Amino acid sequence: MSDLPRWRERADAALQRALPDADQSPRRLHAAMRHAVLLGGKRMRPLLVHTAGAAFGADPAALDAPAVAVELIHAYSLVHDDLPAMDDDALRRGQPTVHVAFDEATAVLAGDALQSLAFEVLADTPVADAIRVELLRTLASAAGAAGMCGGQALDLDATGNGTALSVVQLERLHSLKTGALIRAAVRMGALCGDASPDELQRLDRYAAALGLAFQVRDDILDIEGDSATLGKTAGKDVAQDKATFPALIGLDASRARLQELRAAMDDALAPFGERANGLAELGRMAIERDR
Ligand code: IPE
Ligand code: IPE
Ligand code: MG
Ligand code: MG
Ligand code: MG
Repeated sequence: MSDLPRWRERADAALQRALPDADQSPRRLHAAMRHAVLLGGKRMRPLLVHTAGAAFGADPAALDAPAVAVELIHAYSLVHDDLPAMDDDALRRGQPTVHVAFDEATAVLAGDALQSLAFEVLADTPVADAIRVELLRTLASAAGAAGMCGGQALDLDATGNGTALSVVQLERLHSLKTGALIRAAVRMGALCGDASPDELQRLDRYAAALGLAFQVRDDILDIEGDSATLGKTAGKDVAQDKATFPALIGLDASRARLQELRAAMDDALAPFGERANGLAELGRMAIERDR
């Protein structure tokens, strides 16, 4: 049986424990942070941490902190992504977005505080000092200008002004805004186990393909999905003239690209044999998901 439901429950419990109590001051900020993190979400990145870690014999107790940390960064990225200054979205994870449920200033601060909390949690990972530093470096680099924030900046540059990117430019944008945190999740899990430098590199090929596929699927779902299933507003990429795979190469070619990325994942994982079954399952989920 798949370990995924078990890892998901474990991640949810660890997130609950990590977040500040809503009864404690500043209550509005704490409530906004909890709203952003605890109300839904597929927990794909924590699942990648646990699954990559398990494949390399990591102690599950060591994986809770990186699993929580990457989900907190992801949740913060969504809170800011939804702000009027960015994608201006009212629905997220089937709930009003944080700036709608609370207010914009609170949403900015909740995102900021989630990011800080992520590194506070990660700094307490029960592993050797050298690995802990590497975990911190991995997540910091993936979250910042060379990772998610950089990708979001490229996304904004390409939005609503008729900019036509090349496929290479769009792949870079997607690989940064979405791929970077997914790569960090896989790397952090494997770092807590006994993966060799060569194995880390091979895993990164898998994670890079998965990260790009995850965003290509997100772009397709924005067109083909409905808001109730997605838990977020469908159809907004066309409405906002976003740089997406379907907009650039069409839906059929986007689906074909997903199959190429599936093959790239399988190829990267092949030498790991059965040990990589869980990672392969997550790769399929990224490509086949309907929310
Ligand atoms: C949404 O991520 C934003 C992207 C990076 C595509 P998810 O699809 O993982 O959103 P949740 O966490 O399940 O809400
Ligand atoms: C979001 O990309 C990537 C992030 C870094 C948050 P999108 O803007 O397409 O994500 P959704 O569709 O709002 O979830
Ligand atoms: Mg966006
Ligand atoms: Mg968005
Ligand atoms: Mg999207």
